[in-house]
Amino acid sequence: MKTPGTLLLLASLFSGAAVVAQEPELDAFTGFRMTGDWELVRANCIACHSAKLMTQQRGTAAQWLSMIRWMQEKQNLWQFEPDVEARIVAYLAENYPPAENQRRAAIPPDLMPPNPYSPAPDNTEPH
Ligand code: HEC
Repeated sequence: MKTPGTLLLLASLFSGAAVVAQEPELDAFTGFRMTGDWELVRANCIACHSAKLMTQQRGTAAQWLSMIRWMQEKQNLWQFEPDVEARIVAYLAENYPPAENQRRAAIPPDLMPPNPYSPAPDNTEPH
């Protein structure tokens, strides 16, 4: 029954869904997704290089951690408190995970242009 009450309920359900699906805003300066511990990452990770090195990178938690270890070994990156490091890694792995959808699907063969290097049909017959 469409009473004002049900309409209100429906409206709030839909707006609730919209909030859940909403992407976090991007920080104007770093481009970081403004969610969770993004400010901690901003405080610790952009002293030496652009935030783009992070926002254009993707990785699992293990991969992000190994990038941090690499910088610590080779690039004079300092040591973090374990808890700070865990939060940085969690933020990065959550917001910049390895994404299959970053690669487009392969083009189906029937949509491919003809391959100019494949032998012409009349060349395939032995003469
Ligand atoms: C002490 C300086 C310093 C700090 C602080 C620093 N980095 Fe780096 N990072 C570097 C250097 C130097 C490079 C290499 C840059 C290049 O290749 O142009 C690098 C490269 C990277 C790369 C690219 C790695 C690759 O494989 O291409 C990523 C991702 C990265 N840093 C993430 C981070 C994160 C996350 C933090 C914070 C935890 C951080 N950086 C903090 C020095 C730093």
